Amino acid sequence: MESLPTSNEGWVRGLVTLKQATELLRGGQVVAIPTETVYGLAAVATDEQAVLRVFETKHRPPDNPLIVHVHSIAQALQLGDVGEIELNLMQRFWPGPLTIIVPRKAPLPRAVTAGLNTVALRMPGHELALELIAAVGSALVAPSANPSGMPSPTRAQHVLADFNGSVPVLDGGETVLGIESTVVRIVGSECVILRPGAITEADLADVGLDVLPTPSAIEELAHSPGTRYRHYAPNTPMRLFADAYTLREAMVPGRRYVILAPYQPVEGVEWQHLTAQSVYAQLREADEKKVDEILVLCAGAVRADVALMDRLLRAAGENLLGEGT
Ligand code: TXA
Ligand code: MG
Repeated sequence: MESLPTSNEGWVRGLVTLKQATELLRGGQVVAIPTETVYGLAAVATDEQAVLRVFETKHRPPDNPLIVHVHSIAQALQLGDVGEIELNLMQRFWPGPLTIIVPRKAPLPRAVTAGLNTVALRMPGHELALELIAAVGSALVAPSANPSGMPSPTRAQHVLADFNGSVPVLDGGETVLGIESTVVRIVGSECVILRPGAITEADLADVGLDVLPTPSAIEELAHSPGTRYRHYAPNTPMRLFADAYTLREAMVPGRRYVILAPYQPVEGVEWQHLTAQSVYAQLREADEKKVDEILVLCAGAVRADVALMDRLLRAAGENLLGEGT
């Protein structure tokens, strides 16, 4: 990999301006960018070398395709074969956290779609990201800007820490949604949710679509290869509990815990309020504090949040304890 510009060429500790980000991307470099969901590791989608650099930087398996980020529906129409239903979804939910899989059209490098004949398209709901895509003059690939398998970054600081400042970051503040976009594919007249996110099954059903419920996190999803890998996982061991009683029973005096929950699960014990917006930052903080274990109470509002539960199950390695078995 070519060396990135040093700080005396204009950027300090990895933070770059919109103008610098534009130039770096045009020059074939990788830049971390803000979106409304999580930070993405961006590169020009039509530049094969730059796309390969994204895989290399993240240590991402080459059979896991990338999402192509556009600044308009018009740009999306150049890249994919967009049907009537998909176009309706774009008009209804873009810019926003909905990624739509369509047959690929433009000569994108094979690496982008991992050899598939479909492409994932998304128009992010973040002003800075949209301005950047327009300024670069090309769609951008952008997987979450974390080393493969780790929790996704929701702040510029997370990206700097993950890559030791070696990846330039366009700082757009803390991301407002905190977990990755909903990924859907239209099959016949049905909308299949490949990855749950902030756009829910109910939102999609609301526009008159037949929605195929999100497959369980345990299933392998033939159409979304990335879901085969363990994801979003902190280094600290993590267990999920269906109720406060089971969580309390699991606690051993003397051990240090981070407890994430929708409400205080144990009298007199320190805990943190868990939401989709906060989850990745909390998993990262638990690693920094070097506690023995992360205990998560999956009840109430947490249990009701399909996308949050999906990420928790994957991060913990699927086990939910105390579930009346
Ligand atoms: O919110 C988001 O979507 C963030 C921000 C940065 O935009 N990006 C993101 O990218 O989460 P990534 O690469 O971490 O996740 C992309 C997901 C993977 O599960 C991948 O397998 C799936 O989308 N995907 C990409 N292209 C696909 C395709 N052609 N068919 C099926 N699934 C695809
Ligand atoms: Mg990811």
